[in-house]
Amino acid sequence: MLFDTHTHLNVKHFEKDEAEVVQRAIDAGVTQMGVIGFDNETIVKALELSETYEGIHPVIGWHPTEAGSYTDAVEENLIDLIKKHKIAMMGEMGLDYHWMEDPKETQQEVFRRQIRVAKKMKLPITVHNRESTEDVYRILKEEHIEDVGGIMHSFNLDSEWMERFLDLNMHISFSGVLTFKKALEVKESAKLVPLDRVLIETDAPYLSPQPYRGKRNEPSYVRYVAEELAMLRDMSFEEIAKITTDNANQLFGFTKE
Ligand code: NI
Repeated sequence: MLFDTHTHLNVKHFEKDEAEVVQRAIDAGVTQMGVIGFDNETIVKALELSETYEGIHPVIGWHPTEAGSYTDAVEENLIDLIKKHKIAMMGEMGLDYHWMEDPKETQQEVFRRQIRVAKKMKLPITVHNRESTEDVYRILKEEHIEDVGGIMHSFNLDSEWMERFLDLNMHISFSGVLTFKKALEVKESAKLVPLDRVLIETDAPYLSPQPYRGKRNEPSYVRYVAEELAMLRDMSFEEIAKITTDNANQLFGFTKE
């Protein structure tokens, strides 16, 4: 059993063969996925997929590259959908200083607003961080994210930063980046991450793991992330699969402690 905590089966890359992609995931043992909506279109599609297939959990929020279009109406719609569809997690949200589609101030404001919604709804969040680590950390800390926790998605930082995010009650999710030969800091973090706070994901269609680097990623490939993590921790694939799946189920609120 594997749980891909962050995937975008809801984007156009999967329009033509979504059923086959889901079947390959099932064949690879991927029984659950968090399908991440990040704007109106992808949110609608995430909800639709969750009604079509077993084990698909829609996660909804507003991506930092869409920050300029976040309005009161968007926020009210998110709240309505969370209630109506019993959404388990909010996101993705955060900051993206790579693409810088909107000014930092706008991104930060939209990030804070969504954190406040998540806290009101008592939901964990999934966080996008690209070239914005200092500000992401500061905002999570100032907004007291520890009350609900969440996921540092596609974690690609060193173990010092990892410790700081762990202190804020965040989980650490590794993507295909973990399989890249040169990702030494990320591998080091994976060696040290507490086993009750580690998750795996694909971020499909992006960030394909070895041996598919550069090609379209898909949820079935999350097993390569699990294999790499198992190797780094000197554990079996089955143990890593169980640990990461249990952690995800707990964070999404599907199991009681
Ligand atoms: Ni994503």
